[in-house]
Amino acid sequence: MTKERGSFSRLGFILAAAGSAIGLGNIWKFPYMTFENNGGSFVLVYLLAVAVVGLPIMIAEIVIGRSTQKSPVAAFLALKKPGWSIIGWLGIMTGFVILSYYSVVAGWTVHYFIKSVGWSIRGFGPETAATLGDQFGLFLSRPFAQIGYHALFMIFSMTVVIFGVKSGIERLTTILMPVLFGILLILVITSAWSSGFPEAIRFLFKPCQISPDSLLEAVGHAFFTLSLGMGAIITYGSYMKKDESVPRSAALVCVMDTLIALMACVVMFSLIFSLPEADRTQFSASIGVMFTTLPKLFYSMHGGFILSPLFYILVGFAALTSTISLLEVVVAFFIDQLNWSRIRATLLMGLTIFAFGILSALSLGAVQGLSVIRPLGGKSQGIFDTMDYLASNWFLPVGGILIALFVGWILPKAFSRKEVEEGHGPFRLHGLWIFLLRFVAPLAIGWIVYSVIILGKSFN
Ligand code: TRP
Repeated sequence: MTKERGSFSRLGFILAAAGSAIGLGNIWKFPYMTFENNGGSFVLVYLLAVAVVGLPIMIAEIVIGRSTQKSPVAAFLALKKPGWSIIGWLGIMTGFVILSYYSVVAGWTVHYFIKSVGWSIRGFGPETAATLGDQFGLFLSRPFAQIGYHALFMIFSMTVVIFGVKSGIERLTTILMPVLFGILLILVITSAWSSGFPEAIRFLFKPCQISPDSLLEAVGHAFFTLSLGMGAIITYGSYMKKDESVPRSAALVCVMDTLIALMACVVMFSLIFSLPEADRTQFSASIGVMFTTLPKLFYSMHGGFILSPLFYILVGFAALTSTISLLEVVVAFFIDQLNWSRIRATLLMGLTIFAFGILSALSLGAVQGLSVIRPLGGKSQGIFDTMDYLASNWFLPVGGILIALFVGWILPKAFSRKEVEEGHGPFRLHGLWIFLLRFVAPLAIGWIVYSVIILGKSFN
C-alpha cells in the first residue's frame, strides 16, 4: 500500500511541507499585515500563535495522515470515525477554492518576472515608475492575460503533481526550496546596505500597542501560512515514513516558515524605510503592492536590475511549491477514494479548478459583473475577494478547530502517543500537546469564528 502511494524521504517531507507552508502568505501577506499592525508586538503575538496553536495542530495533522497512510476523507474512515471525515470533505472543497484564486496571483508573478527582465534590459525610467499603478490596473482588466497566466500556472502545478509524490513533488521542492532561500538571503544581505535597514529591524522588534483584532489576525494568519486546517499536511503526512520524528519535523517546518516570513519583512521594510516619511503610506494592504510599489523601490537601489527579476522568481517559486500541495489534496482524494489513476485525477481536477478560477481571474476589473458582485452582502466584493474571505475566515478556522478537537478529545491518547513516539522516542511533551489541542487551540480559533459570525469581522 505504502509503496503504491509513494512516500517522501526524510528531507523530502520537511522540504515539501515547508514548500507548502512558504508561499504568497509569507512574502506578500505577512509583511503588509505586520506593517499595518505596527510591527514589534504583532510579530511577537504571531510567534506565540505559531507556537501554541500552529505547531500543535501541525503535529496533529501529521499524526492523522501518517498513522493511516491515507488522504483526509479515507483517514477518518480508517480511524473508524466516519462522521469526522467531514474534515476531509471540507478540506477538499477548501483546497479547490484556495487554489482557484491563488493560482491567479501566482500567474501575475510570471508576468511581472517577464516584465521586470524587460525593464532591466531597456532601463526603468521615471515614466515607467510613474505609470506602474496604471499598468497593473490595465493588466488586471485584460481578460486573456488574466486567464492565460492563470492557465500557465495551473499547467506548471499539474505537471509536477502528475509525476507523483517522489519524482514530482519531492524532486521539485528539494531543488526550489534551497534556491528560494538563497535568493531571499541575497535580497536580505543587499537590503542590509540600504539606509532603511536599521529602522526596519527596529520596527520588527520594538514593542507597540496591539488591538484584540490584531491578535485574531495573527492566529488566523498562522493557519494560512502553515497550510493548516484543510488536510494539506494530513495528506503530506500520509507520505511520511515511520522512522522520522513527527514533532521535530513539524517544529522545523514552523521555524523555516517563520524565518522566511521575517526575512521577507526585512527586505520590504528596508526598502520602505529608505523612502522619505511622507511616501511610506504607499505601502498598503492593497493586493497590488508587490507589483506597483516594489518595482519602483527595487530600481531605485544599486543592483535593482538583478534584484527585481530575482524577486519575482522567488515569489513564483514560493507560490508553486504551495499550489502543488493544494492540488495534491484534491488529487489524492480521487486516487484513494475512487481509484482513479494519478494522471486522470490531476488532469480532470486541474482543469476543473482552472475553469472555476476563471471567475476569480476576471473579477478584478476584466468583467464588471464579477468584480462588483457581493454574494455575501457587505463582507466581500467580487468573486476573487469572496473566495479568499470564505477560505480564510470560515473554511480554514472551522477545519482547524475540528482537527484540534478530534486529536485532543476523540482520538485515544494511547494511540496518538504511540504515533508521535514512533521515530521520535519518548515524547515528554505529550500532555502539554494534548492540553493545547483540547483547550488553547479551540478557544483561540473559536474566538475567530465567533468574531466572524457574531461580530461580523473579516480577516483576509
Ligand atoms: N501556506 C501557503 C502560503 O502561505 C498557502 C497554502 C498552501 C495553504 N497550501 C495551503 C493555505 C493549504 C492553507 C491550506 O501562501
